[in-house]
Amino acid sequence: MALFGRVNSNTISLLNHCYCKKFIMVTSRLKSHNRISISTNIRNVKEYKNNKQESTHEIEIIKRRNQASRSLLIQVHSSKSYNDLHNYCLKFGDISSMHHYHVNNQQNYILVEFKDIVSIKEIMSSASFIKEDIISVKSSVLWFRKGQIITPQKNNQRKSLFVENGCALPNEKEKAKQLYNAKSISVQIIILYEMMKLTDLEVRLRFHTAHHLEQYFSRLFDNIKILPFGSSINGFGRKRCDLDLVLIPNTGECNVTSRLVFHSKLMNNNGRHETKEFLGILANSMQYFIPGILNVRRILEARVPIIKFCYNYTQTECDLSATNMTAIYMTELLNFYGEMDWRIRPLVITIRAWAKSQELTFDVPGQWITNFPLTLLVLFFLQQKKILPSLKILKSYSTHNDVRCAENGIDCTFLRDVNKLPLNYKYNINQDSLEKLLYDFFEYYSTFDFQTYGICIREGIQIRKPSRSALHITNPLETTLNVSKNVNFYELNRIISKTHDAIYALETTDKFESNSWGIMSLLKINNDNGDLKKSNTTKGQMKNIEEYLKNSYENSYEISDKFEVNETNIDETKTKKKETI
Ligand code: GTP
Ligand code: MG
Repeated sequence: MALFGRVNSNTISLLNHCYCKKFIMVTSRLKSHNRISISTNIRNVKEYKNNKQESTHEIEIIKRRNQASRSLLIQVHSSKSYNDLHNYCLKFGDISSMHHYHVNNQQNYILVEFKDIVSIKEIMSSASFIKEDIISVKSSVLWFRKGQIITPQKNNQRKSLFVENGCALPNEKEKAKQLYNAKSISVQIIILYEMMKLTDLEVRLRFHTAHHLEQYFSRLFDNIKILPFGSSINGFGRKRCDLDLVLIPNTGECNVTSRLVFHSKLMNNNGRHETKEFLGILANSMQYFIPGILNVRRILEARVPIIKFCYNYTQTECDLSATNMTAIYMTELLNFYGEMDWRIRPLVITIRAWAKSQELTFDVPGQWITNFPLTLLVLFFLQQKKILPSLKILKSYSTHNDVRCAENGIDCTFLRDVNKLPLNYKYNINQDSLEKLLYDFFEYYSTFDFQTYGICIREGIQIRKPSRSALHITNPLETTLNVSKNVNFYELNRIISKTHDAIYALETTDKFESNSWGIMSLLKINNDNGDLKKSNTTKGQMKNIEEYLKNSYENSYEISDKFEVNETNIDETKTKKKETI
């Protein structure tokens, strides 16, 4: 019990050591696993241009994409339909998993993952359309209508509903109660992270969304793919975060021996004008033809033109851009940093939650900071703490397998194999508790000389500000850009002032005298249940936390550990945050 009373430094040291070891083990396990499971899909493996060997992150993406291509999203009457659906689907092949969730307590869905893609093809050819005036587009979203119940055969597979109501938001009262009863601020941070991170089903649904679009567009174009990126992928996402998608050319193998070559039009999607035109055409077809896509908004004048839309089956706000490989590599970089130490993701998610509750970040873009630069602030702070290396170090340790170049010529090469890191970064010397790191984060930025200095993840040190912007955070991959150019002096001062408030709140917090202590006061969470006097963490909670810590190390590369929220409804006229640079 004392272990979790305060996550002390010895414990952290040990856990971090285990984490690193596990990361290495899981990395090699994943690699060998994927070599087998995707061998039939070898074209996908070779998709990455300039890529000599896929990184763990890239392999995970391939695995998730493969999983999405073997899955169907089926609307059912209720979770109870799974039995019937399971027996029906078995006609088409073996099932790997079934996951249930509902939207607004009304529409129920089951995501069915088949073992083999052949089953999907068979279902596609057997499924029908309703006899109404509809635009008949076959997709991986179907509806399970009433019919004759199938009697299971004797040697039927065991039914496996992995989760029921898998996308539920944490109950606010329960959240307050758990945070209130936590033994320390460090444990509160872990509890918050566990509650807010994206689940495996939420990740699956994000890859399903990308696949759904890709499936439609692949009927028009043979060589495109749609990849998720941003906080949905880098592990800093919270429940209900937006889904960032990018459409990129699929540079797969081409048959150089064939003497017959298709006549095609040249596509210059690096040109801004062409990208804009192209996205405009896609937006029209998305709006009129693709089921489940609502509220399509065209933000085509932004520096990075995007299509915003709502994916109705999961009620997720999505942004689709085109040929933005730098953003993909940025996601990989942030993911790599997140993987390097188990404290990083819980800390970032807590600071993002703090910024949101203090109204420093908003769901709409403006002259305030957004989650991406805020995350860079946390990573930079962790570099100062010697927990994370600079990008320069990651570059200096990179090998020929790490060479990547974005379509605009930006060099995105950096070390992608944690094994090759210098020992002091692999087995962290700094073993501060989460509580200390949170406090120190606020302290560091409450006294930072923003007037003279900018933040540079690439160098890992503060740099003299090259611009007059209030806040200068160098884009790690494109160092001439400032990712916080939009932040004005007023907003910067608010950030500084809120860091002072946070320090005060953490210094004066009293577990026994208030309904809101520790990070609860930072996040404006109150345990309103008056009769709940501070009690020791219950056995059940302790078990959960122990499970968390155990799982963190065992599943350190489960992408399900990674994800986020944004109940956005951005007005088309407002400028997109990515415009800011
Ligand atoms: P949330 O969606 O708020 O959870 O965070 P996010 O990290 O996904 O940020 P966002 O959706 O705003 O952007 C998605 C990705 O686009 C980021 O992870 C970055 O890679 C990239 N991005 C966002 N804003 C900027 C910016 O100002 N400059 C650059 N170069 N890239 C950006
Ligand atoms: Mg995002």
